[in-house]
Amino acid sequence: MSNIDYSSKIPNNVNLQDDRTLQRALEGWLPNYLDWWQDMGPSGSHGFDVYLRTATSTTPDGWATFGHVKMPDYRWGIFLAAQEAERKVNFGEHKGEAVWQDVPGEHRANLRRIIVTQGDTEPASVEQQRHLGNTAPSQYDLRNLFQVNVEEGRHLWAMVYLLHKHFGRDGREEAEALLERRSGDADNPRILGAFNEETPDWLAFFMFTYFTDRDGKFQLNALAESGFDPLARTTKFMLTEEAHHMFVGESGVSRVIQRTCAVMKETGIEDPAELRRLGVIDLPTIQRYLNFHYSVTIDLFGADQSSNAAIFYSSGLKGRYEETKRTDDHLLKGDGYKILEVKDGALVEKEVPMLNALNEVLRDDFIKDSAGGVMRWNKVIEKAGLSFRLTLPHKAFNRHIGTFAGIRVSPDGRAISEAEWALNVNDWLATEADRAYVASLMGRVVETGKYANWIAPPPIGINKQPIDFEYIRFN
Ligand SMILES: [Fe+2]
Ligand SMILES: [Fe+2]
Repeated sequence: MSNIDYSSKIPNNVNLQDDRTLQRALEGWLPNYLDWWQDMGPSGSHGFDVYLRTATSTTPDGWATFGHVKMPDYRWGIFLAAQEAERKVNFGEHKGEAVWQDVPGEHRANLRRIIVTQGDTEPASVEQQRHLGNTAPSQYDLRNLFQVNVEEGRHLWAMVYLLHKHFGRDGREEAEALLERRSGDADNPRILGAFNEETPDWLAFFMFTYFTDRDGKFQLNALAESGFDPLARTTKFMLTEEAHHMFVGESGVSRVIQRTCAVMKETGIEDPAELRRLGVIDLPTIQRYLNFHYSVTIDLFGADQSSNAAIFYSSGLKGRYEETKRTDDHLLKGDGYKILEVKDGALVEKEVPMLNALNEVLRDDFIKDSAGGVMRWNKVIEKAGLSFRLTLPHKAFNRHIGTFAGIRVSPDGRAISEAEWALNVNDWLATEADRAYVASLMGRVVETGKYANWIAPPPIGINKQPIDFEYIRFN
């Protein structure tokens, strides 16, 4: 099961050749996908040979082979993690029953919605990132961008496979619609807010892959617990790909910080304006980018109280992060969870039924996980002997979904007036001027082993290759 058949038109480990109808349907979708990739995939990349990893098995150890692949001839395929024998539903009202191999009729609409919402984020991020290849700071970074892009494309395949195999005609229609929506389009946008934002420069890209791909990690982990076994198996394998995306983000931000700190140390300059004259990204600007991407990303978890979240859990469709490692009853009836609300101008805790607060539970797990990278970024600053520290803003800061939508909260968690917000917002969120400055640094570096001035080279290359390896042959 773990071995992947690359001899068929659509590489897969799901014995696609045994289901001719499904195979034909997916082969019918393939050219539409390739058209979408031509239109919306990385601009100007056609004909490049890119050092990419390709999945060759779905076992956690050594699933990938590396080699130069001509864009856009990457082989997108359908790969599910191995089936676990006798797997049971681990939570909710069906707890203890055998997992479903087919969609249970009563949960069909909810499952379709979950799969479409996840699927929609995958092509969205490719669309958001499509122009970044024109300004890559090195071949190494360009290669990482393309790796992330082709794998987001593959994640779309993962969801489209489920729609085609398990949802009949409306599944096929949803699969078409996934290729029709466009990130940021006024008439036909992507489903979730953060996936309609622009990713205009490489600092935004690194923040996006650190924070927003991490949202992916948490959503996929929750779906990997699903009682619908095909969804659990496909998301389980997606998670192994996702890890690299977050690595690209964390190490990318870290290298920007490292370079800035090196210049600060070398020159003794701390003033942002003067540092900008030296062509590096000052730390307060990095903080403002962080504040933006973090706050936009935590909105993705949805409203802090949600009856849908309760239904998805109780029906066994979507679990919690690391559901099976938790020691409670996995039913959660009668359990409470503390969420925040604004009362008399202050943020106060209030206990609500946990089942209704499962979006908040997942958001809080995400927040804990996000803090790790920020701590490691601060280590880079500390090592340079500088006193500046990056922080995650308060979770109520700059929110547009749930209790805090429309309420002004400072990064340190005080409910504030509109006037105070207006006075300070340029210190808290990346401004037009910040973005224009960062954009001014973006210029394409194509020479093998060269890195742009605003970012440090990585400590090691991809797949243990040297950092001056020829990651891209531009031809
Ligand atoms: Fe993805
Ligand atoms: Fe990703």
